Amino acid sequence: MRLVFLGPPGAGKGTIAAKAKDVYGIPHISTGDLFRENIKNETGLGVRVKSILAAGDLVPDEVTIAMVDQRLKEDDAQGGFILDGFPRTIAQADALASMTDLDRVVNFVLDKEAIVRRLSGRRVCKSTGRTYHILYNPPKVEGIDDETGEPLIQRDDDKEEAIRNRLEVYEASTAPLIAYYRDRGLLVDIDASLSPDEVLKAMVDALK
Ligand code: AP5
Repeated sequence: MRLVFLGPPGAGKGTIAAKAKDVYGIPHISTGDLFRENIKNETGLGVRVKSILAAGDLVPDEVTIAMVDQRLKEDDAQGGFILDGFPRTIAQADALASMTDLDRVVNFVLDKEAIVRRLSGRRVCKSTGRTYHILYNPPKVEGIDDETGEPLIQRDDDKEEAIRNRLEVYEASTAPLIAYYRDRGLLVDIDASLSPDEVLKAMVDALK
């Protein structure tokens, strides 16, 4: 299964992808996670994109496209993949079409108020990337990762100013991809307001 997960920031793409990858036995490839991994390891790419992510702006297309092109050539992606957070622009979508065919594009639909609630309550474990929510998916011990025992942090781009910017960037650059993929007969809309298990089930049923 070659899937793209589309949807506004905080719609739950990463949460559902972490479950769906086991359902389908395919890797979860998140461009946001790849950038954050590079930032953590202080690679050249990480240094270049750190302030872009913190502000909630998009990394330039040519940088992102090259990174994804390389990742899709790895062995584990040959039997399918979930691309989470890519493409985010029409130019990226055109580039992806020249790299691979897609089976479906899942569009996670969520209203703005719910998006802000989810993003402002999100906490993450920096070393593993595991994601929690202070109300909807709290850790066993407040502020502590369930498995590593490390303190949880708030992502720089989950601060109010950056959230606002990410929503504007989404509307301007990424939302046009809904029509792009609908026109190509690939789009499946999924109501992302339900619990993660309900969202997963609705998606798996819709993809049958
Ligand atoms: P990225 O990491 O992709 O950020 P995003 O698209 O803004 O998505 P998020 O990770 O914020 O949200 P999500 O939909 O995965 O939600 P989550 O599951 O975490 O990108 C970060 C940055 O990298 C970009 O801003 C950009 O700078 C750069 N970048 C990445 N890709 C790029 C590209 N292609 N081109 C250029 N630049 C790029 O859930 C959110 C919260 O809600 C969590 O707390 C979770 O626990 C909770 N939650 C999830 N589902 C539910 C549910 N069903 N019910 C209740 N709570 C839920």
